[in-house]
Amino acid sequence: MKRILGIAGSPRPGGNTEFLLERLLAAAEAEGAETKMFTLAGKTIAPCADCGRCTNRQPYCVQSDDMQALYDHMLWADAIVFGTPVYMGTMTAQLKAVFDRARPLWLMDNALSRKIAAAVAVGEGRWGGQELAIQNVYWAALNHGMVVVGGACLPYGNWEVCGVAGAAGQIAADEEAIAAAEGLGRRLAKTNIEFG
Ligand SMILES: Cc1cc2nc3c(=O)[nH]c(=O)nc-3n(C[C@H](O)[C@H](O)[C@H](O)COP(=O)(O)O)c2cc1C
Repeated sequence: MKRILGIAGSPRPGGNTEFLLERLLAAAEAEGAETKMFTLAGKTIAPCADCGRCTNRQPYCVQSDDMQALYDHMLWADAIVFGTPVYMGTMTAQLKAVFDRARPLWLMDNALSRKIAAAVAVGEGRWGGQELAIQNVYWAALNHGMVVVGGACLPYGNWEVCGVAGAAGQIAADEEAIAAAEGLGRRLAKTNIEFG
């Protein structure tokens, strides 16, 4: 796996999700991967309007917003790591809009189906819904035909990168989440899949 894109699904710049993704991408780079980070903070990506005008070339979608740049980053990547804060038990509306607006990529011979998906989530609560948010990300990625790769850490449960943090930056104290994120980054850098 060579090209890894992190998408931080938080509207808060410099937040916990960005922090975890940065650590994941740094660990992947140390294994030789090329990485990019795209944060949704400060960006505008409107929900899909179901106008029926998706196309298989730029601008892909008639809505002229920050999704236009993200299409190209997504097409560049071999693997996409979707990071999300937990909002009311699931991924943010900002990240869900990305999955919905990625629909035109179906028209490019199902472009995302030859890419790997992975996920990280940060919630304030110890049982705040991180696992469910990650599962919802997986499900959306599977809807795009992506191949989901989890972590491979022991002991039980560390296959998912679940951070516990509230205030921005607090995640720096969650050593388990950081270790899991770095483990997933290394794994993604080394994973090569031949797509059928
Ligand atoms: C609208 C909203 C809903 C939230 N819902 C949850 C939740 O269901 N469970 C939880 O553990 N934390 C919840 N939180 C807290 C955030 O997940 C937490 O602060 C996280 O660290 C934010 O990540 P960020 O710094 O990347 O934005 C919520 C925060 C907001 C603003």
